[in-house]
Amino acid sequence: MSERQADIGVLGLGVMGANLALNMAEKGFTVAVNNRTAEKGYQLRDENGAVGQNILPTDSIEEFLSSLKSPRLVLFMVPAGPIVDDEMKRIMPLLSPGDIMIDAGNADFNDTVRRSQSVAGTPFHFVGMGVSGGELGARHGPSMMVGGAQETYAALKPILEPISAKYQGEPCVAWLGPDGAGHFVKTIHNGIEYADMQMIAEIYGILRDGIGMSAGQMADIFADWNTRELSSYLIEITAVNLAEKDAGSGQPLVDVILDEAGQKGTGRWSVIESQKLGVGATTIEAAVSARSVSSRSAERALTERLYDGIEHARAEFHGERDGLAELEAALVTAKIIAYAQGFAVLTAASAEHGWNLPLGEIARIWRAGCIIRSQFLDDITKAYEGNEPPANLLHAPEFVTRVTAGEAALRRVVAKAAMAGIPVPALSAALSYFDDYRRARGTTNLTQAQRDLFGAHTFRRLDQDGVFHHQWPAV
Ligand code: 6PG
Repeated sequence: MSERQADIGVLGLGVMGANLALNMAEKGFTVAVNNRTAEKGYQLRDENGAVGQNILPTDSIEEFLSSLKSPRLVLFMVPAGPIVDDEMKRIMPLLSPGDIMIDAGNADFNDTVRRSQSVAGTPFHFVGMGVSGGELGARHGPSMMVGGAQETYAALKPILEPISAKYQGEPCVAWLGPDGAGHFVKTIHNGIEYADMQMIAEIYGILRDGIGMSAGQMADIFADWNTRELSSYLIEITAVNLAEKDAGSGQPLVDVILDEAGQKGTGRWSVIESQKLGVGATTIEAAVSARSVSSRSAERALTERLYDGIEHARAEFHGERDGLAELEAALVTAKIIAYAQGFAVLTAASAEHGWNLPLGEIARIWRAGCIIRSQFLDDITKAYEGNEPPANLLHAPEFVTRVTAGEAALRRVVAKAAMAGIPVPALSAALSYFDDYRRARGTTNLTQAQRDLFGAHTFRRLDQDGVFHHQWPAV
């Protein structure tokens, strides 16, 4: 057994676990590691030069735990789901009072709440922490969203701050609230990520099928957009994705990639939770559904044969290279609406679960390190900074100005896409939501009348207080 006392232990050395361990080791922390196959820990130590010298491989869970300083910080980086419960069961009998377990996977926040409750009656602590930034983020600076008892954060902060991404020197990590708050915020981060990616894909569809551009031409456009309002990691990688050539065929690599999107669940959870909270996150819903439709490529091919193809598509957009500014403005506007929806879900969840989520702080720690990082998140941070934070981002004066400026472009792009037969489910969801949300008098008065007619569900009136039921004519 090693004599060295490690600052933290990482359980699970998949690519995320290994990279987080290396990140910590590089910042000077001694990191005990344990993995189902113990050799991985030794490889991590031996293949990483000086950084590897701060990695402490262990052969058993007992050795792993006894190599940790007190209170022990045990970070799980294992696949989300029952494996987390199994690992907790395995280590809890070996823990001492005050030890802290941290689940850093993409957990369903409902599981995190349940696990927090199960640990609440023990002398141990449980922290659910969302980590964003992919493999590179884990290695060089992720954004981290911490949930759990606030006292535990004092023990974690000295390690999490140095390993986190920095935005103009500020660490992108924060304690956000009790039990499931961190994992909930990470889930909604991913929901917004889905919407953002889907909207980019829709604009790509217009450029490809409407305007007839090559991948290389589009790469230049996204690179150009990345210098202005849209500047973000996702736009930056889109330019890289589009510029890449396939070594074998010489084709742009995107042109030979099957158009079936994977999804591991966080987008779907975002939609489920937003529905439970009664918040319309329609751009996220559209993005999740678009991935589902994409996965049915054989059915799509059959449907294309049954209906007219997309030959008419180019008529609406063809040759409109001067329309690029309109596409850019439409994307900016739809993106603002999507983020407003994501933050509206966070606002509702905060009230529902009594989390008191710090929305400005969330935007602040998303400015660097995470997948949706962008300049734009600094604008959101500022919108929440004032004395009177807006109830919805679409009420913040800065965003009222920006949406007002871009609304017409979004409307024209969605309309032209509709006429061209080019699907833009997330862009049009953003526009429809906006049109619905900014309309004081909607149409559900009719829905209420119908409900009252067939089910005596009652309705309220504009001109009188109370709840009413009407004797409608028999049908
Ligand atoms: C991140 C990513 C990360 C992962 C997603 C991808 O924030 O670092 O969101 O969590 O890439 O799980 O999710 P899908 O496989 O569902 O697209």
